[in-house]
Amino acid sequence: MVLQNLKNFIKKKGGWIPFDSFMFECLYGNDDSYYMRKKDSLAGLPFGSSGDYVTSASLGHWMAKAYANSYARIISETRNIDKEVFTIREYGPGNGELAAKILIELFDQDILPKKYEMLEISQSFIEFQKTKITDILKQYNESLYLRANKILKWKLVEVDSEEFATNTDIEPINGLVIANEIIDSFPVKIALWQPNDEILELGIKINDEGDLEFQNRLPDDQLIEKVLHRKNQARQNGHFWTTPRMLDICPHTERWLKILMSKLNYGELILSDYGLERYELDSDHRVESNVTAFFKHTQISKLNECLKNVGGQDLTYLVDFSQLSEFFLDQHDCHFKLKSQAAWLIDSGVLDQFARNQDFLCKSHQMIEEVGNLQKLLSDNEMGQSFLFCHVFKKNSS
Ligand SMILES: C[S@@+](CC[C@H](N)C(=O)[O-])C[C@H]1O[C@@H](n2cnc3c(N)ncnc32)[C@H](O)[C@@H]1O
Repeated sequence: MVLQNLKNFIKKKGGWIPFDSFMFECLYGNDDSYYMRKKDSLAGLPFGSSGDYVTSASLGHWMAKAYANSYARIISETRNIDKEVFTIREYGPGNGELAAKILIELFDQDILPKKYEMLEISQSFIEFQKTKITDILKQYNESLYLRANKILKWKLVEVDSEEFATNTDIEPINGLVIANEIIDSFPVKIALWQPNDEILELGIKINDEGDLEFQNRLPDDQLIEKVLHRKNQARQNGHFWTTPRMLDICPHTERWLKILMSKLNYGELILSDYGLERYELDSDHRVESNVTAFFKHTQISKLNECLKNVGGQDLTYLVDFSQLSEFFLDQHDCHFKLKSQAAWLIDSGVLDQFARNQDFLCKSHQMIEEVGNLQKLLSDNEMGQSFLFCHVFKKNSS
């Protein structure tokens, strides 16, 4: 169904669409697109062992502990603002596990927020999250479950192909904003830089056999400007491009961040994703696009393979963290720290908590599982260095 709609869309657009439009259609544009299709069971979800990939949110309680530590710090450092009005806002809450675990941590510290708001683009994900959170909280503590019912709020975010997800219809908050592995699912453009030829943009057409195929076209000035900006930066970093190379450029990130920040009066924003800074992304040896597909825990790195299994597999890319840094450097009312996941978790105090407070690991099998999760989150070979955290601190303007 997604494939047929996609082909109709390509025809309607004159026979060619840029890669970001293709990605949008696969993941969001149709009722049965990857992130929009109905899921009435765990098996229908992309996350988890029965899905296509596992995110850090599901690897034990460590991420929740670290986020809860940030929240606790915001509250303890805040004198002028009424602490009762603090909110946690989570973008794309996945299977809901992270929210449930954060609420458990905050309940234990007796600092539950006034509101925990989930911004979600899929109605069927919302239904799933409600069930999952209920299960986790009821099992933990009935009174937490009852309190959480009053705290948790969901908001459905509309997506469209032009603006993607603008999220303008939300209240400004004081508190903590979480966006774990969100930006890597934004539709991305792919540009082709060539040493002695014009810059091109990768797009999709339907070939004579009726299959999807890549075709390059001349891009608009905005994309050319972004490619040239990165080429100049690469040169300053000592990387001289000599062979053709592809660059993934997300046209939505900056606008999304702008709106997100305008809806945070005071507090912290924690953006985490798998990605790199440009000194690595744009180095001499990295010439391919970093767009890949994930299906049943297998990463499919060949770009051509991304055109198959339309709507049935996840499409994602390495987030350009220098784009985030450039954005936040331009903001006058905040500062930020960029760290690897391992550094962020350690700085958040999870190792101290592990050493100090092992009561939640009382059963030995649980202990083994939690230690394994922590190793995965911290290890260089797993997620420790491949995931980055951009931790933004917004000042109180009043
Ligand atoms: C890779 S999953 C991560 C889910 C979850 N945060 C986790 O870490 O397990 C990306 C999620 O982001 C959602 N998403 C993408 N763009 C979004 C937006 N602008 N606002 C809210 N959610 C968004 C997708 O629907 C998808 O559920």
